Amino acid sequence: MDIPPKFTNWPIWDDQDISMVSNVIKSGNWWCGAPKNKVGNQVWDFQDEFAHYLNANHAFACTNGTHAIEICLRALGIGLGDEVIVSDWTFVASASAVVAVGAIPIFCDIDAKTFLIDSQQIKKLITPKTKAIICVHLGGMPCNLKVILQIAKENDLKIIEDCAHGHGSRYKGKSVGLWGDCGTFSFQASKVLNAGEGGAIICNDDHIANKIYEILDSGRHPGEWFYDHFTFGSDYRLGELNAALLRSQLKKYPKQFEKRNQSAIYLNSALSLIPGVHPQKRYDYVDGCANYVYIVYFDPEYFGGIDYKIMYKELSQAGIPTDACYPPLHRLELFQKVKLLPNIDYSNANWGNEKSNPEHFPIVEKIYRNAFQLDHRVLLSDQPALDYIVGTLKKIQEKYSI
Ligand SMILES: Cc1ncc(COP(=O)(O)O)c(C=O)c1O
Repeated sequence: MDIPPKFTNWPIWDDQDISMVSNVIKSGNWWCGAPKNKVGNQVWDFQDEFAHYLNANHAFACTNGTHAIEICLRALGIGLGDEVIVSDWTFVASASAVVAVGAIPIFCDIDAKTFLIDSQQIKKLITPKTKAIICVHLGGMPCNLKVILQIAKENDLKIIEDCAHGHGSRYKGKSVGLWGDCGTFSFQASKVLNAGEGGAIICNDDHIANKIYEILDSGRHPGEWFYDHFTFGSDYRLGELNAALLRSQLKKYPKQFEKRNQSAIYLNSALSLIPGVHPQKRYDYVDGCANYVYIVYFDPEYFGGIDYKIMYKELSQAGIPTDACYPPLHRLELFQKVKLLPNIDYSNANWGNEKSNPEHFPIVEKIYRNAFQLDHRVLLSDQPALDYIVGTLKKIQEKYSI
């Protein structure tokens, strides 16, 4: 067997990270305070720097990417009994956040090429109760926002972009997260920009921004006394230590983004030469992809009928950092067995018991069974590492082809 190349380790950190964090510790200012009574400056500065990087009017740091979606839903007035259309292929948070605010996620099948929410299917799922669409830029790949925005406009729906995988991804020159009403990010440890935990929300609309701030800071208003609370919010604030690490990591981020983006383009063309291998489709409207994961569908006809489990085993044995993809949401026990909030009627949802039958979600079922994903640190590695992956896939194909 070939000796695997060295893949880049994750996370990447240096002395600057250590000094940014230790300076906060030494300062004794471990939280940010409120706009009128600022304590530390890390959260406020990070918000400005993240907004600047993405060219957003507003950015808010918060506890994590799950809470970021919950805050947006609440800020947009979505709650009890409302239906929210969510891609069926995503991490559970994109849908559990909907449940958390008392609303009902409705799962939408994916496009067979992009693995992203299928806009044609969205139309079929709209009912009088539908209030929003959560489009997840899975793997950092931007959804076809123009089409989704048009559907939202025609049906008076809000759009939340779940950008947990897409820090800096651009659709037609503009960052994801700025096309819909608001966009959410995760800074959890595995993410391309991370501080162990953390999240953020961006938007361009001042009114929505005010609502977001109220909700994430206990119903406060920026210029008012600290113990005045104007609406029902909660404490979703990020701590200063995490914000300091994020500021330091953000300085290194654009270079890492470019490297991953270039590696993905290289892999796309190298893998397209292997019959039956289909990386996540990148259309021309994508002019930058964060590539949190690099997802590949392999047609079982060209691989002797193997599924993702065997592929995963083969790639792991060859020393390639890979992972199984998310199980589609309709399959998860909490949705299949409807173990959700009491006193909410989920009977009209398109999942649960018999409705979670794989036949009702044919595309995601097909792709999931024969897909694998490469960790983003693979794309930060040098070209021999990428060539090794291409070579390994060819060998796996040879091994299993009859
Ligand atoms: C698509 C997606 N949305 C939301 C989240 C939630 O982010 P967090 O883990 O920071 O709560 C994740 C985390 O993996 C995710 O992958």
